[in-house]
Amino acid sequence: MTDDRQRMTSKRGGRHEPPRLPLAAEASAPAKLILCGEHAVVYNRPAIALPLADVRARVRVSPRSWRGVHFSAPNLRRRWTLAERPDDTLSMLANETLHSLNASPTNGMLVTIRSKIPIASGMGSGAAVATALVRALAAASQQHLTNEHISALVYENERRLHGTPSGIDNTVVAFERPIWFVRQAVEQQGEGETKSGDESSSLQPPASSAHALIEPLSFAAPFTLVVADTGVRSATRMPVGEVRRRWLAEPARYEALFDEVRDVVVRVRGALAEGDIVALGSLLDRNHELLHTIGVSSPELDRLVHAAKAAGALGAKLSGAGWGGVMFALVTPETQERVIEALREAGASSIRVNTVHATIP
Ligand code: MEV
Repeated sequence: MTDDRQRMTSKRGGRHEPPRLPLAAEASAPAKLILCGEHAVVYNRPAIALPLADVRARVRVSPRSWRGVHFSAPNLRRRWTLAERPDDTLSMLANETLHSLNASPTNGMLVTIRSKIPIASGMGSGAAVATALVRALAAASQQHLTNEHISALVYENERRLHGTPSGIDNTVVAFERPIWFVRQAVEQQGEGETKSGDESSSLQPPASSAHALIEPLSFAAPFTLVVADTGVRSATRMPVGEVRRRWLAEPARYEALFDEVRDVVVRVRGALAEGDIVALGSLLDRNHELLHTIGVSSPELDRLVHAAKAAGALGAKLSGAGWGGVMFALVTPETQERVIEALREAGASSIRVNTVHATIP
């Protein structure tokens, strides 16, 4: 694929020559927003996620005369080499990708990572950087990887970062389209148990994440989300780990809460298919209440959600892992400016507007 997401240069000095790998290449990947179903999705309930095409991570590969792979992340003021930091998650991903591509670069390379996606904010920054890195390395090696392949490589990276990801982030970012996602239970026995009996596996959610039902979604009517950041950074693995501890301590209670989330998500899909934006708003409110009960909201998130509702939003909820990061409000053209103003007054550190267009199934 050679498009805006992935570009490579193979012509040098005006003559076409056999390429010396790596070629110069650049690729990007979008941020994501979980519309509904986060956390419960780790426990095999459905969730809906959207790409945010305007907010992207970009990775550039530049051939260099030195040996080996050098990384530079100017936003984070970080520089490192694969040889010095082989256990860095991006070094590991680069190694696995090059191995998967069967690529043995003849030259060294500089991998420059830039991202407009705030980190630890629920917008999938880690998955987007990883996806852009895999795409850029594939382009630099003059190879094509399918979205499934990219998603699988990024999933392994997510596992190293978050422990027990459902796989929804890498999927929506790699495929870059709205998705219905259900992680499939492979070896589920009963509430709170996994088949394998050793102690460490009893701390895992009850399924292998290698399998998921993924369906593209279409919308009967457009809708607009105002996305506001609390400014509080919260690494995904913290709330995800806490939910796991609570689920292990009170499996029946948490399974019932996850079932309630599932019912909301199923109804959200129906509302989207019918273009019923008012019903969508109430369902998003209910999802936020359930996330609050599950224990992943925060005073900052609740403040923004309440401010948006008081200003006339049809619905509002936190998005992503919680304890910080972003929330969004569903608005109409009439309420949009009022809601933005209210979110600003309630302390949002940044606000962006995202319109999801109607699509024909
Ligand atoms: C994070 O974007 C979504 C969570 O459900 C975790 C996951 O699905 O891996 C909180």
